[in-house]
Amino acid sequence: GLPQDLAGRRVVVSAGGTREPLDPVRFLGNRSSGRQGYALAAVAAQRGAAVTLVAAHTADLADPAAVEVVRVGSALELRDAMHAAVKGADAVVMAAAVADFRPVSLAGHKIKKTGSDPEPLALTTNPDILVELVGAREPGQIVVGFAAETGDDTGDALHHGRQKLARKGCDLLVVNAVGDGMAFEVPENAGWLLAADGSETVLPHGSKALLASRVWDAVAARLRDR
Ligand code: C5P
Repeated sequence: GLPQDLAGRRVVVSAGGTREPLDPVRFLGNRSSGRQGYALAAVAAQRGAAVTLVAAHTADLADPAAVEVVRVGSALELRDAMHAAVKGADAVVMAAAVADFRPVSLAGHKIKKTGSDPEPLALTTNPDILVELVGAREPGQIVVGFAAETGDDTGDALHHGRQKLARKGCDLLVVNAVGDGMAFEVPENAGWLLAADGSETVLPHGSKALLASRVWDAVAARLRDR
């Protein structure tokens, strides 16, 4: 088995892509599979943590063993579920792909064809849940964010990652190199783990479980030191 270095800890992980409803049958969504978040939840449970997984839409994934799964649809639902789940948690990882925008209004019935073109879709900005969780962070709680950075080269992706870490205020930021078939809808991942203390770790190309292990290594070290 794995080291039980998260025994006695409570952690919360978000996963998957939110769906922003337009009417009772339609939504705006994204291509997140939820695999990285599920791997994070599974590995944390294997290392002894009590885990809550807040899951938006995902591919057809089995619930990780010994993990409490809370299902949500929209960004606003994910937000409520996260604020409730993080109370008393030692660590929080926002791996969900949260929609940046949602339709301004939710039709009560299926929107019908009228024969003429529809009105442009009016959108409004969703709250940044990660920023909110950082704002509500309890003493000693570790908050981890994810960033998918395209960047033409490594320097670019890292530069954008550093800026995002500062802007969001989280303790750790996983920077995924995306593009060239990386990260989305594939089983493997690679990138960097940036910390608010300035440290920077390469996350070598490997399984999402391997990347999850490296993230929990960093979280466990910080929980030990606090
Ligand atoms: O700004 P960007 O979307 O690149 O940030 C990604 C990180 O912020 C992820 O950890 C994601 O879960 C989180 N996020 C959020 N709420 C949003 C948008 C992103 O918590 N509305």
